[in-house]
Amino acid sequence: MRIGQDIIAELQQRLDIEEVVGDYVTLKRKGRNLWACCPFHDEKSPSFSVAPDKGIYKCFGCGKAGDAINFVMEVDSLSFTDAVKQLAQKYGIELPEEEPEPEELQEHQEKESLYIILKFAADYFQQLLKEHPEGKSIGYSYLKERGFPDAIIKKFELGYSIDAWDGLLKAATNKGYSTDLLEKAGLIIRKDDKTYDRFRGRVIFPIHHPSGKPIAFGARQLITDKKQPKYINSPETPVYHKSNVLYGMHLAKKLIRQHDNCYLVEGYTDVISLHLCGIENVVASSGTSLTTEQIRLISRYSKHITVLYDGDPAGMKASLRGIDMILEGGLLAKVVVFPEGEDPDSYSRKVGATAFASYLKEEATDFVVFKTKLLLKEAGTDPLRRTEVARDIMGSIALLSDPVAQSVYLRECSNLLNIDEAVLMAELQKLLRRKKGQDAPEAPDYAPPLPQAAPAEPQKATTSEESLSLQEKESVRLLLRYGFHQVGENLPLHRYLLQEVAEIDFQTPVYREILDLYRRQLESGQVINEQYLLQHGSTAVKEVVADLSISRYELSEAWQERHNIYTTQETDHLEKAALQNILRLKFRLVRTLIRENQQQLHTAGTPEEVDQILLVHQELKKAEMELAGLLGNVIAG
Ligand code: UTP
Ligand code: MN
Repeated sequence: MRIGQDIIAELQQRLDIEEVVGDYVTLKRKGRNLWACCPFHDEKSPSFSVAPDKGIYKCFGCGKAGDAINFVMEVDSLSFTDAVKQLAQKYGIELPEEEPEPEELQEHQEKESLYIILKFAADYFQQLLKEHPEGKSIGYSYLKERGFPDAIIKKFELGYSIDAWDGLLKAATNKGYSTDLLEKAGLIIRKDDKTYDRFRGRVIFPIHHPSGKPIAFGARQLITDKKQPKYINSPETPVYHKSNVLYGMHLAKKLIRQHDNCYLVEGYTDVISLHLCGIENVVASSGTSLTTEQIRLISRYSKHITVLYDGDPAGMKASLRGIDMILEGGLLAKVVVFPEGEDPDSYSRKVGATAFASYLKEEATDFVVFKTKLLLKEAGTDPLRRTEVARDIMGSIALLSDPVAQSVYLRECSNLLNIDEAVLMAELQKLLRRKKGQDAPEAPDYAPPLPQAAPAEPQKATTSEESLSLQEKESVRLLLRYGFHQVGENLPLHRYLLQEVAEIDFQTPVYREILDLYRRQLESGQVINEQYLLQHGSTAVKEVVADLSISRYELSEAWQERHNIYTTQETDHLEKAALQNILRLKFRLVRTLIRENQQQLHTAGTPEEVDQILLVHQELKKAEMELAGLLGNVIAG
């Protein structure tokens, strides 16, 4: 769907960046701006700032910057359209009706209906737990026995389904919901000519979409009856694809980002128990092995996963593959193992919240190390089996995308396996080449071990294009910051600068875009400033504007003002700064042109062409000298 400019403008009007960002991090006021630890990278002291008056944010650590819409795009990995939609909803702005294909429309409407029915069912089950005699005496007392306080029951929206064939069926059809939709939602079963509730006489754990909508249910039996499955779960439906869903994600996502780590457990009750211990960055794979979609879902919030295992060696070995998939997905994995016979639920109850939390911290072991130790214990002293283990481990290390991490692990595993690092390195190289596959078909099967330390990357020299781009950026900064300052009699800086660069175009697309906006606005006699660009610029423009308009030193500037301390300010020498910028800009441009001209020499065909190129070269060289001279005067003067 395309969203109209008017909607975006209205949204910009109502947006409060403090509120939007505040949903994800805790902002503290310092000086004119608000500060927090950056949600986009790991840090201990805040370098992420928000300027509420300008409606923009910028991180001085990782360099990310933009307005509220950029922020939501980045933080929730959304497209521009989806970010606008999400914010429009937050601010109660109505979006125009979409006009999708009839088929799409029907599918969309069906999904909407299913969400409504699923929400109805979730409410119904919750109400039964609290109000129905059977719900109270059986369901509620079961949860109480397990030590779930009311607040936690409410937080997870736990419920109860009465032991009847048509409890929900009756309630829903009375409400006017069709049996067709109830069946599609996975709530009722139609077999032969019978229609009946799927969940009967069980405690209900709703499963939510990350946005918080209920999309499915897990229903636990109350007394152990071996003839019945412990849990009955919703089947796959148009709104529930088991392999894409993680239990508890709607409550965890914010905290996963904040802690930059996601705890992964097996069961519904494990998630709840961790919440009871005050640990909320936790999700469950719901008893099945992890899927790539689930890993991708977690990676939207953090690249670190800590897997919590029941103390059951067979189960652990079975899930090693799942963790390899985490590494393959570009994430880092740690592992916590509980004593034999304990799971996170039972163990947290046994030792209490504080001890449990420190257990997680202390016992978290890097996955590669964990796997090595686990397999080695099995292999015992058998040398052949130890070699197999080494090969298996190198397979895991080869999955990592970070070569630094690879070499760290290699060293560690060399110690654990008691195998020379060079030998392991050769094995790893072989695997890496194979992973690259067809790229290097002729590679020999033996690779000499790499030198211990890779040579440092050579320092990159700034190219003339980069210097030019920097000067263009400086022009934009001057325009934004001091565009309306006078640099001569009745001559605002923006007019002066634009006059001087009238014949040249910026080479960097985003700066050219900004320059063009200035030119166009100036022609029509309109004012252009930060606010204008933040509202009308492309995403790239907004990022640049945000980046340039929050200064790291604003705090001290404000402090100086208040204490009447005046240091030399840029504004005192604006004229000079602008002139310098223009000269540098032209100087860099001439340099770039000289290089481009020289390159044409390689392809010149005729002596005439060569002459022409040399002529241009002379002219450019003259200009270069002239500019250098002027620049020298300005700097010295
Ligand atoms: P568990 O048997 O460990 O269940 O299965 P649990 O949730 O920890 O429950 P308690 O603490 O014993 O009461 C782990 C997960 O496997 C799935 C569920 O998602 C469960 O949470 N599972 C298990 C099923 O889907 N069906 C089953 O029959 C059993
Ligand atoms: Mn369990």
